[in-house]
Amino acid sequence: SSDEKIQENFVECMASHSNATNNLHIRGSPMYTYLLEAAEQNPRWLNTTTLKPSFIITPNHAWEIQATVVCSKEHGLLVRVKSGGHDYEGLSYLCNAAFIIIDLTNFRSLAIDIEKETAWIQSGVTLGELYYSIGMKSKVHGFPAGLCPSVGVGGHFSGGGIGTLIRKYGLASDNVIDAYLVDVNGRFLDRKSMGEDLFWAIRGGGGGSFGVVTAWKVKLVRVPKRVTVFTVHKKMDQEGKELVFRWQNLVNKMPHELFIRVVIQNVVGGGQKNEDPIEILFNSLFLGSKKKALAVMKRTFPELGLEDEDCEEISWIESVLYFYGYKNGEKLEVLLGRTDQYKGFFKAKSDFVQKPIPIDSLDGIKERFLKKSIVFMIMDPFGGRMDEISESESPFPHRKGNLYNIQYLVKWNENSDMVTKDHIDWVKELYDYMEPYVCRSPRSAYINYRDLDLGSNKHERTSYLQAKSWGEKYFKGNFKRLVLVKSMVDPGNFFRNEQSVPPISELK
Ligand code: FDA
Repeated sequence: SSDEKIQENFVECMASHSNATNNLHIRGSPMYTYLLEAAEQNPRWLNTTTLKPSFIITPNHAWEIQATVVCSKEHGLLVRVKSGGHDYEGLSYLCNAAFIIIDLTNFRSLAIDIEKETAWIQSGVTLGELYYSIGMKSKVHGFPAGLCPSVGVGGHFSGGGIGTLIRKYGLASDNVIDAYLVDVNGRFLDRKSMGEDLFWAIRGGGGGSFGVVTAWKVKLVRVPKRVTVFTVHKKMDQEGKELVFRWQNLVNKMPHELFIRVVIQNVVGGGQKNEDPIEILFNSLFLGSKKKALAVMKRTFPELGLEDEDCEEISWIESVLYFYGYKNGEKLEVLLGRTDQYKGFFKAKSDFVQKPIPIDSLDGIKERFLKKSIVFMIMDPFGGRMDEISESESPFPHRKGNLYNIQYLVKWNENSDMVTKDHIDWVKELYDYMEPYVCRSPRSAYINYRDLDLGSNKHERTSYLQAKSWGEKYFKGNFKRLVLVKSMVDPGNFFRNEQSVPPISELK
């Protein structure tokens, strides 16, 4: 068949490139099946009829990636790049045409230079590995990126990266100072040779559109030797709602050292009776001592009633464990796991909020949360450093004026069509309810919480007008510049997926 022919030609091509077939796994081989399952952090698509890749390659060297790009292009395979495999819609391992996965699990080296306060990090490194390695070398350095240790640097830095240091140091991508990338012609480029436009685009423009980033150079940031963490639990009653309302009014004006995120959740499992299953968590990090944290909270947010016994003074690296729910003295080595400890089926959507949601409208959220578990609304505070970076400095445009980001997240345990639909319908209905209260012109979303409901490219042809409808939600005015960069570096649209940036040749 033509598929077999494509595969044969591809293997031949790879063999002719300095024998780049050593790490090539063919359908049916044991490694192939293992790698495919390991890739899927959201196992919604396992054992479904979605198309499987013709090959998975696990390169150890950049030249294997270069050969893969050249041979795929020549022989009609599309490429999916997988770093940590956490893409919410599975775009790092799903494709509806013949394709190969470049799985960067072996791209795992990490060189930290404490003296210069920089690090080179290969894309297959996870956030947990990065944090762990920094923590082993220094008690006073950290890096501002996401909370989940198994997330891959490759996808995460490509789309931004929101974490507990965001108010002090911005996004992960704001702290990238150089990168290595394999482009559509198989060239290996660094910041200087790729040029500032492409370097701008890969720091927040989303993975999968511009090439394969093999490594990133970042600036490390300073953290105090001791930091303070606390989580105040409330019910969603009058007091809880008033606190959320108050938090919304303060959140972007708090000292940069203070990060308080609000999580509204119903995690009471089916069948368990509970009159009031909805909790509100004020989940917080303060970059300083417990004494200072208490003083700052008393001054800025006394209504929360923070007490000495709510707080724990620990090292920054221990705070990383704390925020991912390890609270029982686990060893730091748990950060090295490559699979999400809460792995399960899920769907998420996102919003940005610029005006506090009126207190009475919080009742509508409560009403919906009473009907479903396991559900979360995670509100991450902005302001601070985020206000100081202009909208166009990087593709991530959600800066000054945004109070916080919302992630709506629904999880379930049974992979049946009915259960899946029921949960997805729930989150869509909540999203509709929220429309009047969130950023609406356009309604904004965060690319790292990828959501194909916002729109997607057609397989063969990508129309700019179509793409604009979701592109401007993620990137606002920066979408146009992303399209221009794409037109320069990949006019034939080789690196494409359901939500990749299209080139201008398709500007119609
Ligand atoms: P994955 O490998 O799936 O890649 C994501 C996308 O980028 C795909 O399109 C892929 O092709 C592309 N890509 C991957 N590597 C590339 C490379 N080297 N070069 C070019 N393109 C590449 N976010 C956040 O900001 N803060 C947080 O706290 C969290 N927490 C969190 C928890 C959990 C459990 C999940 C599942 C996700 C998050 N996220 C998050 C979202 C996360 O930032 C987002 O899913 C990232 O894109 C994941 O990066 P991976 O490398 O793991 O994904």
